[in-house]
Order: sequence, then C-alpha cells, then structure tokens
Amino acid sequence: MNLAVIILAAGEGTRMKSKKPKVLHEILGQPMIAYVVDAARTLEPERIVVVVGHGSELVRQRINGGVRIAIQEEQLGTGHAVMQAIPELEGFEGQVMIICGDTPLITGRTLTGLVSSREKSGAAVSLLTAKPTDRTGYGRIVRDGNRVLKIVEEKDASPEERLIDEINAGTYCFKKDALLFALGRISVENAQKEYYLTDAVEILALQGEKIVACTVEEPAEGLGVNSRSQLARAARILRRRINECHMFSGVTIVEPDLTFISSTVRIGRDTTIHPNCYIEGETVIGEECEIGPNVRIVDCSIGDEVQVEQAVLKSATIEDRAVLGPFCHVRPGTRIGRGAKIGGFVEVKQSEIEEEAKVPHLSYVGDAKIGKGANLGAGTITCNFDGFEKHETVVEEDAFVGSDTMLVAPVRIGKGAFTGAGSVITKDVPADSLGLERSEQKNSIGWAKKRRESRGKKSVERRSKR
Ligand code: UD1
Ligand code: CA
Repeated sequence: MNLAVIILAAGEGTRMKSKKPKVLHEILGQPMIAYVVDAARTLEPERIVVVVGHGSELVRQRINGGVRIAIQEEQLGTGHAVMQAIPELEGFEGQVMIICGDTPLITGRTLTGLVSSREKSGAAVSLLTAKPTDRTGYGRIVRDGNRVLKIVEEKDASPEERLIDEINAGTYCFKKDALLFALGRISVENAQKEYYLTDAVEILALQGEKIVACTVEEPAEGLGVNSRSQLARAARILRRRINECHMFSGVTIVEPDLTFISSTVRIGRDTTIHPNCYIEGETVIGEECEIGPNVRIVDCSIGDEVQVEQAVLKSATIEDRAVLGPFCHVRPGTRIGRGAKIGGFVEVKQSEIEEEAKVPHLSYVGDAKIGKGANLGAGTITCNFDGFEKHETVVEEDAFVGSDTMLVAPVRIGKGAFTGAGSVITKDVPADSLGLERSEQKNSIGWAKKRRESRGKKSVERRSKR
C-alpha cells in the first residue's frame, strides 16, 4: 500500500535551553532530524513531509532535498503539527506514518515492521511502544488486557497510570482516512492546553477501530531527545551501534567508547582506529590504514595503508601509503600523493603534493604544487598571500628546498633544483640550478675568545671591588 511520512520538527525544545531548534542539535556531526529523515527514506515512501516552525529556515537548510515542507506557525501541539501537514498530502491515498523529529535512534527496520503489522492486522493505526527503565516525560500506553485504549501524557496521568511500564515512542502508522477522522476531533482539554496527537488513539479506540501496538526490541530506539542529557545518551548509543558495525566488517577499533565515527563514513578491512578519533562527513578510508590516536577527519578520501597520527584533515584526498603527522593540519582542496610524507607542525592548504614528496617539519604549504619526490626542508613557507590575492608556488619533481626557505609566490623551483637554507626566493629557479639568497658570511677569527677574556677580567675587577 502507498505510504507517506510526516516528520514533526516544529517544536522549540524548551528543555534543551538553546537558541537552536531542537532537531538541529547534532549527534556525530549530523543534526537529529537527518537521522530521522534517513530512516524514513529507507521505506521509499511516496512522499515525506517535514513540519517545521521554530527556526524553520535553519531546519529547512539542514534537510537535503526530496522532502516537502509544511509550516506550523504556532506550536500548539503534536496533533496541530500533523494538521499543518495535511494539505501536503493532497492527492495521496494510503497510509501515513508519523515520526517525531527528536527520535534519532529509530531504524528503518523498525519502521518497516510498524507498517507491515498495520497492514497485516488491518488496524486503523499501529503505534510503536517501548519499555525503557527511565519513563520520565513519556506518554503511557493504557490497555484493557491486550486492547490499547489510549495514550495518556505524563502530565495528565493519574498516579496509577504513571506506573505503567509501556511508553509511547511517538511513531505511528495510520490509515489516512482514520487519521483525518481523528484529527478533526482532537481538542485542547488537557494539562498543557495543546492538541495532542496521542488523543487520536483514544478517539479511534472509542469508534471501535482496531489498534495495534508494537514494542521495540531495543528500548533505545524509542528514545526521545528532550534534554542535553538525553542527547548525550542518544549519541553514546548511536556511536556504539556504528562502531559495532565497523568491527563486524573487519575494522579494529581499539577503544569503541572513545571513537566517534559518523554514520556516513566507510572504512576498509584491517584498518585500525586508535582512540580519540573523530571521523565525520563523507569520509572514505581504505584498507590497512592506521588512524589515530587523536585524529579528526572530515569529508576526506583516504587510500590504503595510510598512516595518520595526531592530525586534523578536512576535505582532502590522501593516497595510498602516505604518512601524516604527528601534529599536522591538512586543509580543503589538498591531495597528498602515494607514499608522500607530511610531518610535524605542517599545514597544507589547497595544494597537490605528488607521490613520494616530503614536507617533514614545520612548514606552511598553501596554493602549491609539490612535484614527485621533492623535499621541502624544515621551516619552508610558501608566502602565498600578498595582502590582496593568493598566488601559486610550484616546486617541480625532485627539487630540494633548503630549510627555512621563503618561497614568495608566484614562484617556481625547477626540476631537480636546490634552494639554499634561509633564502627568500622571489625569482624562479631554473631546473638543476641553485637559488641562493643570503648575505655573505664573515668570520672574525678569535672574536669569541677575546670576548670571554675581556669579560673575565672585568668580573675579577668587580669581585675585588666588593
Ligand atoms: C511526545 C508524545 C509522547 C511520547 C513522546 C515520545 C504527544 C502529545 N506526546 O511527547 O506521548 O511519549 O513524544 O518521544 O504527542 N512538535 C511540533 N509541533 C508542536 C509540538 C511538537 O512539531 O507543536 C514536534 C517536536 O519538534 C518534536 C515532536 O513533535 O520533534 C515531539 O514533541 P515533544 O514536545 O518533544 O513531545 P514529548 O513531550 O516528547
Ligand atoms: Ca520528545
């Protein structure tokens, strides 16, 4: 049967005590709402409608295309939020799944189960329930024997109802006509003076409609994030889930509790991730790499047998067998070639470092092309910025740049050429030549000895005066 999904994301999230809309709070580099949208997408629904309100522009920006947006101007409750989405269901017939945007741990598999149990039972609605140890803040499922009678919100619940161990996870699958019927009858007669979506269940039950409740196996899937503490709990669970998945596929994670890998990252077999690594975005890592400890990688493509230690890498390509760190910063637009080396306290930006080239110590390389096998000595700086514009530096194949060379761009060091240590190179150096910019050294023979001796005499005089 046809399926549409409504995701509720208009609430402010008062309990987060934040300027930011709740569903934009991040877990492993992605906003909560993104996880929910991804889970919904696995169902391949005919359409997805996201209800936005508080900070609607910001929320809209963080949702990738392919969804419809409904606006809830005033946050009058979850039932009211769903009402705002109905115009976007124009022309759609079938079943409507509703998910709260603050339940980032929900999986596509569970959502599929919820749809199929509604279909099999022919119920007007199937709803997801959980039995977590901490039930604070959730709606409770009130049953008569097996039959679901209603959902009662904690604020409206009697002391007996609060003892019920089954809670509402905020995910439902309705027949569209049953949903419309119930929405028309929801009122604000409750403790929060809000239109509760949860009332739809009692309304349908009173009509004699069939209601099925499916309890999630892993209670965490039903975790609704209302506070920062729940955000941290959700992050911990998600992190474990992702790390387990990588370990299952052949990645060694030395300490999973100290490893932060986003759900979007792919890692090859026999790669080892040492503690305290943050690997985010569209990052792909090959096989047999050694990553970490203490590495942050965002949106990078990393080949096989790469070693990275104590480093920050963003939007870069690192080819096979390159060695990076400890303590380097590789910035966007950089490609580090096969077997190349980027050493300690080196920053590389928007540059191509070819195969087997070496930038081993204390350098800044920006807007540069460093040829195959070239070597930049310690302290080499590409002076790429003249205060107005950026300029390019080219160091050709097998060139040898002496320590502490300033390469004032635009400038080119030819193939196999040398620069003398300490030179400020402002003119191109032709291939196989030496570029040297340094005043001549003068040695004053015996100067130091004389100085010591005269100093020695003075200090003897001073001492005898005392
Ligand atoms: C809701 C349920 C509760 C359930 C819990 C599961 C109701 C009345 N209560 O409570 O039974 O146990 O979720 O996590 O539905 N939202 C809007 N517009 C609004 C209000 C909320 O879009 O006017 C969105 C929020 O952005 C959020 C979701 O709906 O993503 C749930 O709202 P929230 O206020 O967190 O509801 P809970 O109190 O957690
Ligand atoms: Ca909630």
